[in-house]
Amino acid sequence: MTDFPQGTSAHTISLLLGHPDPSTLASLEFGAELRGAANRADLFKMLQYGPEQGTPGLIQFLTEKLNHDEHLTLEPDNMMIVAGSTHAVDMIARLYAKPGGVVLVEAPSYADSIHIFRDHGLDLYGIPMDDEGLRVDALAGLLQTLKANGKAPTLLYSIPDFHNPTGITLAHTRRLEVLRLAAQYGFAIVEDDVYRELGFERTPPPSFYALADEQQQVFRIGSFSKTLAPGLRVGWLISSKAAIQHCINAGTTQMGGGANPFAAGLIAEYCRAGHWDQHLDRLRALYQARRDAVLGALAEHMPPTVRWTQPDGGFFIWLTLPDTIFARDVKQMALQEGVLVASGEGFFIQPAEGSHHLRLAFSFAPIPAMQVAMERLAQVIRRLA
Ligand SMILES: Cc1ncc(COP(=O)(O)O)c(C=O)c1O
Repeated sequence: MTDFPQGTSAHTISLLLGHPDPSTLASLEFGAELRGAANRADLFKMLQYGPEQGTPGLIQFLTEKLNHDEHLTLEPDNMMIVAGSTHAVDMIARLYAKPGGVVLVEAPSYADSIHIFRDHGLDLYGIPMDDEGLRVDALAGLLQTLKANGKAPTLLYSIPDFHNPTGITLAHTRRLEVLRLAAQYGFAIVEDDVYRELGFERTPPPSFYALADEQQQVFRIGSFSKTLAPGLRVGWLISSKAAIQHCINAGTTQMGGGANPFAAGLIAEYCRAGHWDQHLDRLRALYQARRDAVLGALAEHMPPTVRWTQPDGGFFIWLTLPDTIFARDVKQMALQEGVLVASGEGFFIQPAEGSHHLRLAFSFAPIPAMQVAMERLAQVIRRLA
């Protein structure tokens, strides 16, 4: 996650990054929480090293909310506060997948998670997707091939809800089949669920964590980055009590204490006052209108050879270009027209697999700008055809 590339101007319309709409970040309610903190008698506590597991008030709020909303039976010891999903993915890769260990990811997957797994020297394999998410037949085939070569995956990293970059949600039956394969082959599932609260028409199927039986190891990750503010760097990890304890015992947790106690303390107060639930309602309406506007503009302007996904939540639409048109050419030409989109290569372990795909993030730019952007993008694609 970096700033916009050099050479772009204030007039550039960005559909490049999965950044929340800037107008949603400094809300009145959160601003009041911030101002109130300055006068709190216990401000010093929020500024001290925090308990390694994370701020207790936030753990309490989140476990109660998830138990209520998703009929889970979480106890506080099933959860740890983390500095965003990024922290959790890095920590799990470090503690649970040995250097050189085998990790499976969806193809495509979130580029920065691929980057983290590579930083840890892990051996990555992609599982192709279709409109219902990762293909279980392909996963089963890959597991057999790996076994025949003496390899056993330690982790499967999945973004089951409103996937980045495709916007697709993994079908309920497939979740059960993936869990069956995880039990058979003995790998853990890392469920990166940062978009779950942003469903427009429907709630996603139950999470891997909810569907797994007690013996199975699932790490489920949530975050306030997409639904409150990414600059706060606060998220949560849920798993078995033993796994959470293992993460608490890790050197970085012991050395630095719990993640971001100041931000976590503010968020706990904000959530307990009911503001987050109200904010989520506003966000769902806002992003649904954005999604509708972009889908409408795509249908109006794109040539019939271009296909795209129909996400029912989250931030992203995934475009598939005809084989004769390369995404990097579209990206470059679109930039000259003041439109910024992500070319597909970075989302794959084998970059060539992304040559004919583009990711559009509809979270950031206002609707009129995105409609103009779709018109220009369609013109660029027609010119290249
Ligand atoms: C799937 C996925 N995981 C994690 C992140 C980053 O989350 P956080 O800001 O909580 O580290 C993103 C942000 O784009 C994402 O799309």
